[in-house]
Amino acid sequence: MEKFVIRGGKPLYGTVQISGAKNSAVAILPAALLADSPSVIDNLPDIKDIETLGEMIERLGGKVEKGKHEIKIDPSGLNSFHPPRELASRMRASYYLIGALLTKFNEAIIPMPGGCNIGVRPIDQHIKGFEALGAETTIEHGFIRIKAKKLRGAHIYFDVVSVGATINLMLASVKAEGTTILENCAKEPHVVDVANFLNAMGANIKGAGTDTIKITGVDKLEGCHYTIIPDQIEAGTYMVAAAATGGDVYVKGVIPTHLEAIIAKLVEMGVTVEEYDDVIRVRREGPLKRADIKTLPYPGFPTDMQQPFAVLLALADGISVITENIYENRFRYLEELKKMGAKVRVEGRSAIIEGVGKLTGAPVYATDLRGGAAMVIAGLAAEGITEVLDIYHIDRGYEAMEVKLQGLGADIKRVKE
Ligand code: EPZ
Repeated sequence: MEKFVIRGGKPLYGTVQISGAKNSAVAILPAALLADSPSVIDNLPDIKDIETLGEMIERLGGKVEKGKHEIKIDPSGLNSFHPPRELASRMRASYYLIGALLTKFNEAIIPMPGGCNIGVRPIDQHIKGFEALGAETTIEHGFIRIKAKKLRGAHIYFDVVSVGATINLMLASVKAEGTTILENCAKEPHVVDVANFLNAMGANIKGAGTDTIKITGVDKLEGCHYTIIPDQIEAGTYMVAAAATGGDVYVKGVIPTHLEAIIAKLVEMGVTVEEYDDVIRVRREGPLKRADIKTLPYPGFPTDMQQPFAVLLALADGISVITENIYENRFRYLEELKKMGAKVRVEGRSAIIEGVGKLTGAPVYATDLRGGAAMVIAGLAAEGITEVLDIYHIDRGYEAMEVKLQGLGADIKRVKE
């Protein structure tokens, strides 16, 4: 096992390059299986989830040539619709293989996706959509077996705005007979990115990024060369780290419109933010002001950013409230933040945070991917030494976090436990 050892109290200065979006990449790799010919995907983040997905695609018979930031996927040899449990259960996003394999083989057998430790995370909306397209689902021995004689277009209304269900139903309907209408869709940038990738392969998808997406089934999809969008959550994480340490950081290779809710909240807290074409400059000289946060589907404040922001609120003047409207259990990391001197209490879906003058270093656990990022930010801002344990959570979704932070002057080391 590995841990990060951080000596805090140093403002971050310099430039950090943002990688490709994890939540795009984990859907685009399965989408590449729908073509009859190879695709090359670049601006790929070099993270564990992508490695795992590449292994799964090879075990399904696909040919994978992977570089650090690019991958070539040749689906022509695909010969199985049943990825191995030990790989598929490592990451929740393996559920995108259901939509992809259903389209490819009219059948898929996938382990029930693990509920991450941020909530139950059901996939009832995915299944509701697949069944509307004509598939039958059985759940046995911890696997979902899903089969369709023929996939036919349908009109599907999602009861919950779901990124995963929106993307999975695009994957399952791109080659279905006729037209599929998806209503009450998620509008995240990565939903649009996946739709753009599918259209680049010859799909006919209109409306991605709005509440309603129309998919007209096509017969064939051909591989293409595609560049993944930058990761707005990784960018937001480094913007918060700059603000938490009172530094001055250029966050490079971003799409500013994807960051509007994050920028607005930082400005509300007294942070100076300057937007350029594909760079955001974040600096903070004065004290942090309190603020309230309510997480919502895009373009609302992203749930993946409430954990890093909690560190800023813990350092701000006054009392702030975070209301987590997306997941029912995404505050576990606050128990770790309390070890560093934060004053917080959780009441149902709200966390009440009373700002304290400073945080002090301590050994803390990464409870999940974004909770882990929050602990690193807290360590960078705290006085003294912080050890962040279980950093495998962080490596799943952040490329070389300690290297990027060292580039900004942070005193952080990856140490084998
Ligand atoms: C995606 O998860 C992201 N993961 C999450 O990021 C992100 O927090 C989430 O979207 C919201 O933006 C990936 O893209 C791999 P949802 P997903 O379906 O698709 C409920 C990270 O840190 N729901 O939009 O699983 C669900 O319980 C991760 O990168 C149902 O009830 O999220 C949740 O309360 C964490 N039934 C809400 O909807 C369903 O069938 C939103 O979930 C599906 C979801």
